[in-house]
Amino acid sequence: MQSSNTLWHHASVTRERREEQNGHRSVVLWFTGLSGSGKSTLAHAVEEQLHQRRCRTMVLDGDNVRHGLCGDLGFSDDDRRENLRRIGEMAKLFVEAGVITLTAFISPFRAERRRVRGLMPHGDFLEIFCDTPLAICEQRDVKGLYAKARAGEIPEFTGISSPYEAPQNPELIVDTGSSSLEHCVEQILDFMQQRGVFDVTARP
Ligand code: ADX
Repeated sequence: MQSSNTLWHHASVTRERREEQNGHRSVVLWFTGLSGSGKSTLAHAVEEQLHQRRCRTMVLDGDNVRHGLCGDLGFSDDDRRENLRRIGEMAKLFVEAGVITLTAFISPFRAERRRVRGLMPHGDFLEIFCDTPLAICEQRDVKGLYAKARAGEIPEFTGISSPYEAPQNPELIVDTGSSSLEHCVEQILDFMQQRGVFDVTARP
């Protein structure tokens, strides 16, 4: 979709030139999973490692983005779709800017994740499933939201009264339910190396 009477302006500083200057490719690491599955913790821990290796990075985080850009949205199916549409467009801009973009949104619907994937050139959208079972998320209940949802105080809560559609073919599954944070970070760095995003052994 585009507004009427608008023309695309082509930049002379292209994504390719930015990537070359940065010394790494830009991709989206799209973390998906239930609330409390460890998406944000893992995204920030991976970002820390990438930053230490002088990569350009940005984490887009569900709770944070909902304080600003998506502060007008709630948790109905339509609002979640709109949330993901905006995040998808934002992630696309960051990739154009040469940044390794880590997104941490529940992103519960397969169709919306597929749509975001379709916004980017093939190979740029790397879906990472934080596979923590509901029982463990609920047991952790870091924010106390599951207890409230069970008590009927939060409607349409993912996993309780709103669906979560687990990825069928993600690029990577991390066992955030029982593996250590360090192990999951290593797994993702290895994966990025395999995908040729950058050389993880490279040190400043
Ligand atoms: S998404 O479904 O639209 O992708 P998003 O990741 O932005 O969700 O926001 C999820 C966060 O919002 C949760 O981690 C939780 O802290 C908070 N939250 C508040 N209400 C809900 C709800 N009804 N369902 C899920 N998460 C909720």
